[in-house]
Amino acid sequence: MHMHKLEKIWLIFGLAALIVFLSTIGVSAFYLGNKPPSCLTTVDPEKVDQTAPFNKPGLHKVEGKDWDYELVFVAQAFAYTPTQVTVPLGAKVKVIATTKDVVHGLEVAGTNINMMLEPGYVSEYTTTFDKEGEYLIVCNEYCGTGHHLMSSKIEVKK
Ligand code: CUA
Repeated sequence: MHMHKLEKIWLIFGLAALIVFLSTIGVSAFYLGNKPPSCLTTVDPEKVDQTAPFNKPGLHKVEGKDWDYELVFVAQAFAYTPTQVTVPLGAKVKVIATTKDVVHGLEVAGTNINMMLEPGYVSEYTTTFDKEGEYLIVCNEYCGTGHHLMSSKIEVKK
C-alpha cells in the first residue's frame, strides 16, 4: 500500500500526541493520585451537625496524616461556620467543607482554594499556608438573597 509522505508524518504525529495525552492522564491519575474532586465522600445534608467532622467546625491538629491540620467548614445560607479562623504560618492544612442547604462556593481569595459545596457531598482540598496575612473566604455560587453577605476569614500568622 502506498502512503503519501505527509500522510505518514500526520499519522506519526497523531499517534505520538495520543501517547503523550494518555501518559499524562495515566501519570496524573495513578502516580500523582489525582481524581475528580470530592464526589467520593458523602454526608447526609440533614445530619451535617451530627456527623463528624462537621459536628466540630474549625481548625484541628491531626497526627499521623500527610497534613498537620484539618480545617472544617460548614456552609449554609448565608454564612460559614467558623466565621473566622487562625492558621499557623507554614501549616499544611486539609480544608474539608460541606453545605447544609443549597449549593455554595468556598473560594479563599489569593490562594488556589476554590471549591463548590454541594448538598450531600464533602469537598476537600489540601494546601500549605506559607504567606502571612488575612485571606477572605467568599461564596462564589449564587445561593440566594444573602449571597453577597456570605464570607469568612482565614488569618495566617506565626
Ligand atoms: Cu452561599 Cu452564595
